[in-house]
Amino acid sequence: MVTVGGEEKEGKILPYHFIKMKKQGKRIVMVTAYDYFQARIADEVGVDGILVGDSLGMVVMGYKSTLSVTIDEIAHHTKAVLNANPRALVVADMPFMSYEISKEEALRNAGKLIKLGAGAVKLEGGVEIADTVKALVNAGIPVMGHIGLNPQRHLVLGGYKLRGKCAEDAVKILDDAKALEEAGAFAVIIEFTAAEVAAEITKRLRIPTICIGSGPYCDGQILVFHDIVGLNPEPPPFVKKYAQAYELLMDALSAFKVEVENGVFPDEGRFYRMKEGELEKFRELIKHKEAKDY
Ligand code: KIV
Repeated sequence: MVTVGGEEKEGKILPYHFIKMKKQGKRIVMVTAYDYFQARIADEVGVDGILVGDSLGMVVMGYKSTLSVTIDEIAHHTKAVLNANPRALVVADMPFMSYEISKEEALRNAGKLIKLGAGAVKLEGGVEIADTVKALVNAGIPVMGHIGLNPQRHLVLGGYKLRGKCAEDAVKILDDAKALEEAGAFAVIIEFTAAEVAAEITKRLRIPTICIGSGPYCDGQILVFHDIVGLNPEPPPFVKKYAQAYELLMDALSAFKVEVENGVFPDEGRFYRMKEGELEKFRELIKHKEAKDY
């Protein structure tokens, strides 16, 4: 039993449970979520982890990339997700330039998200951020790594390209994974990387790997909420849509529009009337008032 926001919540998932799940051969399920109802739905379904990803830049804010996302935006959406009091582990993403400048700044920013109630933070990068990860973990902040394609580095990577296609790149990604594990990360996301590379990394790590677009040989999978439910009409090709939410919402809003235009909504039962006899009184009162005023 763990105390969350003053309430007792049984069976809350903590970072070490992810490592335990890998040992038990239990696949880890994660989704992103950015608001209260998305988090409620994800938690009711029983996912293990909810990532408040910087993908909110694109799917919530409509930015062209994740580079514009700020720590305050992540904090805002983390609060909304935490208000659902999920049993799932809530991981808050560290946005671009919130951890690269100095370890002190990384600690300050990660600390903000943990103080809000996030269960962990996630950072993009490998060998080059291992010291920062170590500093965070030493300060008591659980860290999830993120290797393979790092969207925050798309400008230097030359776009959103598949990683690990050749052996040299695969070695680099494995080095990144090992550096993060050594630094104390409790799990690592492998994004858009050749499946064989993800498989070899998964075999060699004690901590779980969670794939996005990197094949089936990881310890878990994560996808963006809007992509899973079909709210994003142009998801990446590795996504499987489990619903057609964009079309569904269009249908609902169109029906509302037509009903308002035709006077069908609101129908009887969806509005409230005065107490009996009060309408006559009201009319009488305004008749006198209007006669006096005009
Ligand atoms: O921000 C995000 O949604 C992510 C996932 C793609 C893993 O980092």
